[in-house]
Amino acid sequence: MTDTHAITGIDRLITGDPALGAGPLGIIEHATVVIDGELIAWIGPDAEAPRVARTLDGSGCVGLPGLVDCHTHSVWAGSRANEWRRRLAGEDYSAILEQGGGILSTVRATRAASFAQLVDDCAGRLAAALDRGITTVEVKSGYGLTPHDERRMLQAAREAGERVGVDVHLTFLGAHTVPAELRGDRAAYVRQVIDEQLPAVADLADDIDVYVDRGAFTAEEGQAILQAGRDAGLGVRVHAEQVGYTGIAEAAAAIGARSADHLERLDEAGIAAMARAGTVAVLLPTAMLYLRDIAPPVEALRAAGVRMAVATDLNPGTAPSGDLWAAATLACITMGLTVEEALIGITAHGAAALGRDDRGVLSTGKLADIALFRTPPGEPVHEDVLVQRLDGHRAALVVKRGRVVRGT
Ligand code: NIG
Ligand code: FE
Repeated sequence: MTDTHAITGIDRLITGDPALGAGPLGIIEHATVVIDGELIAWIGPDAEAPRVARTLDGSGCVGLPGLVDCHTHSVWAGSRANEWRRRLAGEDYSAILEQGGGILSTVRATRAASFAQLVDDCAGRLAAALDRGITTVEVKSGYGLTPHDERRMLQAAREAGERVGVDVHLTFLGAHTVPAELRGDRAAYVRQVIDEQLPAVADLADDIDVYVDRGAFTAEEGQAILQAGRDAGLGVRVHAEQVGYTGIAEAAAAIGARSADHLERLDEAGIAAMARAGTVAVLLPTAMLYLRDIAPPVEALRAAGVRMAVATDLNPGTAPSGDLWAAATLACITMGLTVEEALIGITAHGAAALGRDDRGVLSTGKLADIALFRTPPGEPVHEDVLVQRLDGHRAALVVKRGRVVRGT
């Protein structure tokens, strides 16, 4: 073996593979992970571990697969703090957008920013993610809304990911809203997304996304855009049933969407279609909280066997927080997830939402993306504490593709 090292003595290691340990999370107590290059070579109890010369001490920690934040808008310029004040005073999110604010104000600021600024700001957000043990981040475009500006956003995200050492999953969201210059002609903008933007980004993007909603695109437009993306070889995901019900979750599942996200107003037909297609439900409790919205139908999703992921939706308007641990906590409090569902939601199901089965679970042959956490003073070394507390957890140790990138 080349470049072999190990983390030993991890108090509780959440593997995410029930075959490897106790309960649905597959927990191994006093665990060792042996790493060879970028991959996990062995995992199990300390007492059975092979001898490895180079070791790191994981005692006093809960270990997890590197977290996966599977829905973010991490490239943007400008601030919407002032709009938040207006929303606190009673103004409506969709009405602010109609007046040229909201997403449109971020589009103006993002277009005006230099490429270096976009990369620097995104890198700062990704570095904060890595501090929290997040090793894979999905990043959407959608604040450019021209072929050039959409491509620039994705390039900025890619460069930022390379700089920080986080894996970035790139999603093209040209259909986020109709830009100011085409506000009166949605059909022309949809044609631009399909005929000009998509060819400009297809070599860069992993996935395509559309925001189908009141004040955004219709289900019919969304389907045409998603189908074009699929034909161009991209994975499909969708902002669905958030502000108003449109039926896009059902339609997207029918064309094999990897995920449908938000889902506050998802109906039975949408749930059934997602269950049939294996589409992951991405829950975004931070946006739900900031919009003071209702919860998605978690009980029905659970009953139908739809996998649920939890993500931050980090963006300057509806979810100004990249704290995935806080999102996990909020998903329990406001949506009724169990601790186990929340932990799987920020690891294995986050990876599933991105179609990346090489991560999100710790087992032999998977990527060595591993995050270790201590719990606050006086608390047991236990995952329940991490999900219970809204304390902005920082990882004690982060290993990304086999390399120690945080802690020692
Ligand atoms: O996921 N809902 C649409 N898109 C984003 C909001 C982006 C913004 O407000 O800038 C969301 O919530
Ligand atoms: Fe979003």
